[in-house]
This record gives sequence, C-alpha cells and structure tokens, in this order.
Amino acid sequence: MKPLIAGNWKMNGLSASLAEFDAMVAGYDVVLRSAVDLMVCPPTTLLTSMAVRVGTSGIALGGQDCHAAIQGAHTGCISAEMIADAGGTSVIVGHSERRADHHETSEMVAAKAKAALRAGLLAIICVGETKSERLEGKALAVVGQQLKESVPVDLDASRVVIAYEPVWAIGTGLTPTTADVIEMHAHIRALLSDLFGAAGASIRILYGGSVKPSNAAELLSAANVGGALVGGASLKAADFLPIAQAAAAIVR
Ligand code: PGA
Repeated sequence: MKPLIAGNWKMNGLSASLAEFDAMVAGYDVVLRSAVDLMVCPPTTLLTSMAVRVGTSGIALGGQDCHAAIQGAHTGCISAEMIADAGGTSVIVGHSERRADHHETSEMVAAKAKAALRAGLLAIICVGETKSERLEGKALAVVGQQLKESVPVDLDASRVVIAYEPVWAIGTGLTPTTADVIEMHAHIRALLSDLFGAAGASIRILYGGSVKPSNAAELLSAANVGGALVGGASLKAADFLPIAQAAAAIVR
C-alpha cells in the first residue's frame, strides 16, 4: 500500500494560506502521486475553499475532529457528515491535543471513529504516550490500552488509519529512536491483528511528532510505518512536499 502523508494544520491558516495549498497541489505531480497518498487537514474554515482548489490533483482533504452525533444542539462542533459535505474524505480523531485540551476519553474517540465511518470518511485514530509514561516504561501498555479502547472492532478495517504520536514528540523537535518507533509500531500491528484478524495487517500505521524533511526518510523507512501525520512541517509546501518525496523514495 502507498504511504500516506497527512498534514494536520491544527489552528493555523487564514485565507491567505491558500497560496501554500495551491503550491502543494502544483507540487503533487504524477510521479509523486503514483508513489504517495497526500492529505491536508486544514481548519474547517478552509475546507470548502481547498475542496474547490484541489482540482484533479488527488490530494485528499480531512477534518481535525468531529462530533459523534450527526447533527443537533452542540454549539461549536461539526459532524462527520459536515466534513464529508464540505469535501473531506477523512477525519483525525483522538489527537492528543483534543484528549488533553478537551478531556476526550478513548470511549469518546471510539464514538467519533464510528461517526467518521458512518459518514463515509476514513478515520485517523491517534494514540500516544506522554514523556513520563515512556520514562516509567509504560509506553507500550498505555498505547495498547488507548488503542483497544479507541478503535471499535466492528469498524471496516479498510477505512481505519492509526497514528502513533508520542505526546512528547509533538511540536518539540524531539523524536523517538528508530528502535522505539519499530517496537511501538510492531506492538500496534500485533494488536490490530488481534482486533481485526487478517485485515489488521493492512491498516496503515502513521508515525507523528516532529516529522520534518531532515528526519522523514529515517522515520518512514522503519518497519510497519505506513506514513506520517505531520503538524508544523505541513504548513509550508517547501517542507511538506519534501516529506512526501522522502516517502516516495523509500523502496518497500
Ligand atoms: P508536529 O505535530 O509535526 O508539529 O510535531 C504532529 C501532530 O500533532 O500531528
């Protein structure tokens, strides 16, 4: 399966930023397209504008969160159906910033993942340990527990992507060692096989946390790494496209 490089713009981007998106569209040429799936998850305010500008480039668009319900009295929230209606084909759920800032539990994340599939979207389900959990030797256990609670087993495995994002690596410039990435991704792969049987082998497991052009090749070459979820370095085409090119250059 092609690697997936997904950009999470978080709460960044005004209409002036659409020029960067246009540069990404222009840079996602036939060669890159044949080797890598590219996605941008902008703030919701830019989703429809990007959907117009994406043209036939094949860049996928996604939301950064959704409510579990289809519609209703939930001020400030958006549903998975609204993301689909605006031109998105995916949604990130359970990002550690949502878990921390909005007190989202894994149970809530599982409900959002179900909502994503209900709306026909791909669910990118995030898991990851904190620094203290890693230092205490609990990383595998914590991520395993999050995964079991956040990924409903009745989901269609072909519409699920897992993003392993160590909380301490997000936006810090720090990354785990390659050995730690390999260990965690193997652990996640084994759990997905337990949950989904044979279908678990084909679920993409992204690495996320301080991915940039200079470290992308090494992180993306690790076993069971099926792509990257990129925050800061997804805001500029000059950073984001080289990450996609690094993914394309890896012989699998
Ligand atoms: P970062 O963010 O690449 O800026 O570390 C990654 C993420 O939170 O998805």
